[in-house]
Amino acid sequence: MDAESFRRHGHELVDWIADYLEHPERYPVLSRVTPGQIVAALPNDAPEEPETFGAVMADFERVLVPGLTHWNHPRFFAYFAISASPPGILAEFLSAALNQQAMLWRTSPAATELETVSLAWLRRLMGLPDSFEGVIYDTASIATMHALAAAREAAVRSARSRGLAGRSDVPALAVYCSDQAHSSVDKALIALGLGLDSLRRIPSDDRFRLRPDLLAQAITADRASGILPVAVVATVGSTSTTSIDPVPAVADICEREGLWLHVDAAYGGVAGLLPSHRHLLDGVDRADSFVVNPHKWLFTPFDLSAFYCRRMDVLRETFSLTPEILRTTETAPVKNLMDTGVQLGRRFRALKLWMILRMYGARAIREHLTRHIDLAQQLAGWIDDHPDFERLAPVPLSVVCFRWKPAAQPALSADALDAANQRLVDRANATGEVFLSHTRINGRVAIRIAIGHIKTELQDVRAAWNILLQLRT
Ligand SMILES: Cc1ncc(COP(=O)(O)O)c(C=O)c1O
Repeated sequence: MDAESFRRHGHELVDWIADYLEHPERYPVLSRVTPGQIVAALPNDAPEEPETFGAVMADFERVLVPGLTHWNHPRFFAYFAISASPPGILAEFLSAALNQQAMLWRTSPAATELETVSLAWLRRLMGLPDSFEGVIYDTASIATMHALAAAREAAVRSARSRGLAGRSDVPALAVYCSDQAHSSVDKALIALGLGLDSLRRIPSDDRFRLRPDLLAQAITADRASGILPVAVVATVGSTSTTSIDPVPAVADICEREGLWLHVDAAYGGVAGLLPSHRHLLDGVDRADSFVVNPHKWLFTPFDLSAFYCRRMDVLRETFSLTPEILRTTETAPVKNLMDTGVQLGRRFRALKLWMILRMYGARAIREHLTRHIDLAQQLAGWIDDHPDFERLAPVPLSVVCFRWKPAAQPALSADALDAANQRLVDRANATGEVFLSHTRINGRVAIRIAIGHIKTELQDVRAAWNILLQLRT
């Protein structure tokens, strides 16, 4: 593709994207394709001869667009509603063009140093101290895996060289989190060879927060039976209900017991930008590490996860490894980002964080976050005021969990209510107007509305609520 064609197609593409972002209502939020439909619509083999941009775009529109679920739609309320904001999209475009691969400082001094700067900006906006060094990973799952790898290394210094298998000098290890913690903790333990049996899921209280008293008991019981406690993962903004674990009390226990404290603030962390909500991060300054996902609630196109660590030296000791071909000869000390994790190659993700923080500015970001929290409170109020709906969890941030429970049918069994609520979610999604997801709270099906898209306004939340009112049976 010569420069002139690139320019022309680039303009066409930007036009397509601008229209897309302006009129997402053209599409059903949740894709309606059936499994296998996309594969069936595409040829088995790659073309031998080049095809035109126009032909590819025509198939993109005809085959792929129907298979898109529109995460960038203001009525996307499922899971965590996220946004690829326009500054972030432009940054991704630029990042692809530059094709920076920041494994070593010298393979991209700009990407390496911008990562330091933009992560420090974000950390300060959340009110967290300079003792944390940051690194960008793709996802919070990978960040938590790295945190637990460092925790394992801190507890068993020879784990890196000798592994854990078949060793009589290393007791079984244990990691603790609440029964609400994200499944990425389980996956990290699978990947790290600790195994799922090493995870203690501590019961949470009536507000879905980890119970420190039970945590302390579990640690004591493990020590008594010869097991070595290694780390605790506390959550600020849990996946189902966005509950906030009591991090200060957990930090007390970790300090007393000498355990690594990792805080999973993947969704909730950015609430620290708001003076009104900064207290939700109390105690995080005492964590060994924490993760926050700009790709969740900071309007950053997927993916970008910010990992912060007070003991990055341990993480580097765990993973740094320099084959001859990657040795460099700078005279001043440099940061080689390949040393802070498993992956060697890494994308220039910092560019989008930097552009978003600059082009919105902290004040506008705070206004968006505040609006989402206010909208969630409004929705919670409508639910609380309605005789046929019941709220199932507190709303500390911008996610509301509730269910249909008709006052006139008190004899409906718990299973019948579960089935009816699942049906209600499915029927709401089938309208194409909104996309909601569900969860289970205390074993029962809950409808879950997550408000977080940068363009979501009152009318969008009202539309979701009206659809549920119309479709309840
Ligand atoms: C609390 C929490 N932690 C971690 C994750 C995993 O995030 P990622 O997709 O970045 O791995 C999620 C995902 O929703 C989450 O809710």
